[in-house]
Amino acid sequence: ADENNIDLTIVGPEAPLVGGVVDQFRAAGRAIAGPTAAAARLEGSKVFSKDFMSRAGIPTARYETVSTPEDARRAIASFGTPVVLKADGLAAGKGVVVAQDRAAAEAALPALLSITGRLVVEEFLRGEEVSFIVLSDGRRAVPLEPTQDHKCLLDGDRGPNTGGMGAYSDSNILTGSQSEMIMDTIIEPTLAAMAARSDRYTGFLYAGLMMTTQGPKVLEYNARLGDPETQPLMYRLHCDWAEVLLAAANGNLAGVRLDWKPEPSVCVVVAADGYPGAVRTGDVIRGIREAEESGAIVFHAGTRQSDRGIETAGGRVLGVTASGTDLRAAIANAYSATAKIDFEGMQYRRDIGAKGLDRREASW
Ligand code: AMP
Ligand code: GLY
Repeated sequence: ADENNIDLTIVGPEAPLVGGVVDQFRAAGRAIAGPTAAAARLEGSKVFSKDFMSRAGIPTARYETVSTPEDARRAIASFGTPVVLKADGLAAGKGVVVAQDRAAAEAALPALLSITGRLVVEEFLRGEEVSFIVLSDGRRAVPLEPTQDHKCLLDGDRGPNTGGMGAYSDSNILTGSQSEMIMDTIIEPTLAAMAARSDRYTGFLYAGLMMTTQGPKVLEYNARLGDPETQPLMYRLHCDWAEVLLAAANGNLAGVRLDWKPEPSVCVVVAADGYPGAVRTGDVIRGIREAEESGAIVFHAGTRQSDRGIETAGGRVLGVTASGTDLRAAIANAYSATAKIDFEGMQYRRDIGAKGLDRREASW
C-alpha cells in the first residue's frame, strides 16, 4: 500500500484481520476499513466470542468449552442431540459440525480437537438463519440489507456444512421491528461491550443469526462481509461504496445513508467437484460471457487465467448473481444465467432463495 500510495484498503478475508493488518495500517497512517486484531477475535476464537456474549448478555445458544475427548463426550451427552461442535480458531468454514446423533458427534471429535485443542459444544437451535451485517465506525453502526446464506452443500439443507452455497438479499427477510430488535439486543450491545473492553469495533460486523421462537440468537460473528452474502448485496447497492467505506475508515459515519435497489437479488455459488472436501482444479470454464450478457454479474472466487482461458482454481469457483422484479424472478434469472456456465464436475444447489418464497407463512 505504501509503494503504490493506496488511499483506502478494504480487507476481505478473516486471516489478515485476526493477524492485525488493521493495526499495522493505522500505525502507518493509512486508511483501512476493518476491525483491529483484538476486535477480530469475535470471529477468530469461538471460545472468546461465546464468553464475550455470555458476559454481555447477548442472546446465543447455551454452550460449554472443552479440551479433552472425555469432557467433550460428557458435554455431548448432557446437551442431547442434535448437537453442535465448533473448533476454536479459524478453520475456513470447516470447523463446525452439526451432529444429528451421538455417534456422529463423537466421530467428529478428533479432527475438530486437532484444530486448536479446544472445542465449544453447543445447544442446537431451530429456526431460520439470517445474516445481519453492519458497518461500524467504532461508535455508530449502519445496517446493510438482510441476506440469507445456504450453508449446506445439498438442496433442502442436507449434506455437509460449507462456506456457503448461495445467498439472496430481499428486504422482506426481516420486518422493520425484527431489524430493530436485532440492533437493540445484539448489534448495539456487542459494540458497547467491545468499547467497554477498549476493543472498539470498526469495520464490518456480521452477526449470523438464528431467528428462534425466543427471538434472534447469535450463531457466530464474522469480522468481515460474508461470502456469498456480499455478492447479492453489491448487486443491490445504489450509492458510492468507496465514499461510505472511506467515511467508516476515517471514523465518521455520521449522516451516511446506504441506498439500495428494491429488487431482490440472488447469488448461486458454482463449486468444483469434491467441494467442500479436496477439489480438482484446472478445469476450463465456459459460458461466463453468455451468463453476463443475460444481465447477471459473475463474481470470480476460485478461478485463474491460463493459456486455455479461465479455469477453476478453488472450491467455490463462481457466484452467479442476478436480480428480478420479485424474488421468484430473481431466482429464475440467476438460474438461467447459471445454466450457461459449464465446467467439468461443477456442482450447485437448485434451491437458492426458495425459502424466501413462502416467507409470508413463516411464523418467525
Ligand atoms: P458458524 O460458523 O458458527 O456460523 O456455524 C456454521 C453453521 O452451522 C451455521 O450457519 C448454522 O447453519 C450451523 N449452526 C451453528 N451453530 C448452530 C446451532 N447452535 N444450532 C443450529 N445450527 C447451528
Ligand atoms: N457466508 C458466511 C461466511 O462468510 O462466513
